[in-house]
Amino acid sequence: MRAPVVKVRRFRPERSPAIIRAAALLRAGGLVAFPTETVYGLAADAFNPEAVKRVFAAKGRPSDNPLIVHIADPDDVSLAAKGLSEKSRALMRRFWPGPLTLILSRKKRLPGIVSAQADTVAVRIPDDRIARALIRAAGTPLVGPSANLSGRPSPTRAQHVAADLRDRIDLILDGGRTHLGIESTVMDMTVSPPALLRFGAIAPKEIEALIGKISLPETGAGLDPAVRPRSPGMKYRHYAPRAELVIIDGPAGAVQEKIQELINKSFQKGRKAGIISFRKRAGRAGKGMVRYAGSSPEVVAKRLFSILRDLDKAVDLILCEHPDERKVGRAVADRLMRAAGYRMIRAAGSLEDAGHE
Ligand code: TXA
Ligand code: MG
Repeated sequence: MRAPVVKVRRFRPERSPAIIRAAALLRAGGLVAFPTETVYGLAADAFNPEAVKRVFAAKGRPSDNPLIVHIADPDDVSLAAKGLSEKSRALMRRFWPGPLTLILSRKKRLPGIVSAQADTVAVRIPDDRIARALIRAAGTPLVGPSANLSGRPSPTRAQHVAADLRDRIDLILDGGRTHLGIESTVMDMTVSPPALLRFGAIAPKEIEALIGKISLPETGAGLDPAVRPRSPGMKYRHYAPRAELVIIDGPAGAVQEKIQELINKSFQKGRKAGIISFRKRAGRAGKGMVRYAGSSPEVVAKRLFSILRDLDKAVDLILCEHPDERKVGRAVADRLMRAAGYRMIRAAGSLEDAGHE
């Protein structure tokens, strides 16, 4: 099986032959990758347990990591969830369609495999015409994890999906580059106060402005086995390129020197190295391949996963300037730290001290 990559037009996508074909595949229990405003998702009929099982298998996803149910219309939330609070309704009204996933109480009729047998369910409406046209045409809510192999950077282009999953799924809908570039913000509405489980395009402040105090995850939660993550997905190493990724922290000048030193060392050992920079005038880095990721949260979010995948093809070691949360935003900083598995070197200290070698 080698999934075809089919372009979908953005004008009236509901009439496009690609959507009609994709919907038929989904109704028959097939797997279809589709664009959303955040990243590409891997769709299957949420009410077909066999199809959902194939999603876990295709991604190599641990079965204890639940999936998000994607719907096209707010009323359809009642197909998967029950007992919506006023706060949940307020968030839905304000942010749907959009990059906000709500964890709600699961209806028993939704197959347990979708939620990894939890009594909660994650739901969102994507802000993408192609995605909503697909859900409506399929006539059923769709599960939609990011369409990457488990642990790899999320896909922001159809080609990324093809690189990871082409031989494991039935069809890839190509809607171009995704608009936001990182996944949705995830809010658990079944606890009090509501808890943010994953940072995303919608900032905690925007949510608090609407529903009052929410709780935020601790930094590093999910990687420290002592801190049991409430969102099962957060405990796995994520977004990771195959190349080694290391974050370099410290005063700007020292960071540049350190990067240069590490690149030289790396080349001496016959390993190619690349750099992710947040400053336009990053300058040359000798033999290193430099990728400028932008300096605002929006721009970096859009480019990050694509840059990780590109560098991964070209180098063995990726050095990244420490992402300043105030500049690139918490969502991006969080994903970079996870991609690096929290491996960080202080430019002032030595490589050995950081336990790098
Ligand atoms: O932007 C997005 O959300 C993308 C697009 C395709 O919609 N989807 C996505 O799905 O990122 P995925 O499966 O890669 O990430 C879903 C996250 C995981 O961290 C998972 O553990 C968490 O949401 N999650 C899903 N259901 C949950 C539940 N019932 N309780 C707690 N966390 C849940
Ligand atoms: Mg994912």
